[in-house]
Amino acid sequence: MTETPYIQCRGLTKTYQKGKISVTPLEGLDLDVRRGEFLALMGPSGSGKTTLLNLIAGIDQPTAGELHIGGKNIASMSRGQLTDWRARNCGYVFQLYHLVPILSAYENVELPLLLDSSLSRRERRDKVLTALELVGLSDRADHRPTELSGGQEQRVAIARAIVADPGLIVGDEPTGDLDRDSGDQILELLTELSKSHEKTIVMVTHDAHAAEVAERTLHLEKGQLIESGKMAAEPESVPAE
Ligand SMILES: Nc1ncnc2c1ncn2[C@@H]1O[C@H](COP(=O)(O)OP(=O)(O)OP(=O)(O)O)[C@@H](O)[C@H]1O
Ligand SMILES: [Mg+2]
Repeated sequence: MTETPYIQCRGLTKTYQKGKISVTPLEGLDLDVRRGEFLALMGPSGSGKTTLLNLIAGIDQPTAGELHIGGKNIASMSRGQLTDWRARNCGYVFQLYHLVPILSAYENVELPLLLDSSLSRRERRDKVLTALELVGLSDRADHRPTELSGGQEQRVAIARAIVADPGLIVGDEPTGDLDRDSGDQILELLTELSKSHEKTIVMVTHDAHAAEVAERTLHLEKGQLIESGKMAAEPESVPAE
């Protein structure tokens, strides 16, 4: 029996209307991603990678099409439902980390948990310390972002993305601002999260090396996804006489 994909996009379309200008970066896009898969998304600037990521993360809503994640069609949710869904199901990692500068690493990681009033202070503490340990930064809990390296800041951002235990982690060029070694640490961490913790990971990247680490790479072009290695037209098979 084949497993139902964790993410299923069908006919996904996004049109932005700004005055008289209309842009449709995604048009009738289909995509299946398995639970626990580590998927890389590539494509030229302006091809719609961030647009797709924001739809999958429930930050934005499609103009048309279906988007099922973990069995729920998030395309049909109201704004409020989507906000609740996002808090429980998706962690977002940005290129420039987006940590709050006046908060310590501990407080930054704790932020998403403050939305959940059912958690006690003690439960929050346990979750924050577990997340910081997973990214190898238990000893930096009291450091502010300016007291951390870029790679460490991104690891704090990953701890913040996973602290509420979401099934899905999306990253928009999470290694884009890092040197090779720090970037590799982030990629190792994402691999570990997909392999050992069954997190589904969708990562946008411009870096072929980063994409190689992922299990599968898809290229976004003209609103559609093309599997890596199938960019050139495949020769048509000659029918047997
Ligand atoms: N909020 C918006 N309103 C209007 N147009 C938008 C909006 N967001 C994105 N677009 C347009 O949609 C297209 C896709 O943008 P998107 O940010 O998804 O590209 P991208 O592939 O992430 O590019 P890059 O690699 O440069 O980050 C672009 O033409 C952009 O101008
Ligand atoms: Mg982008």
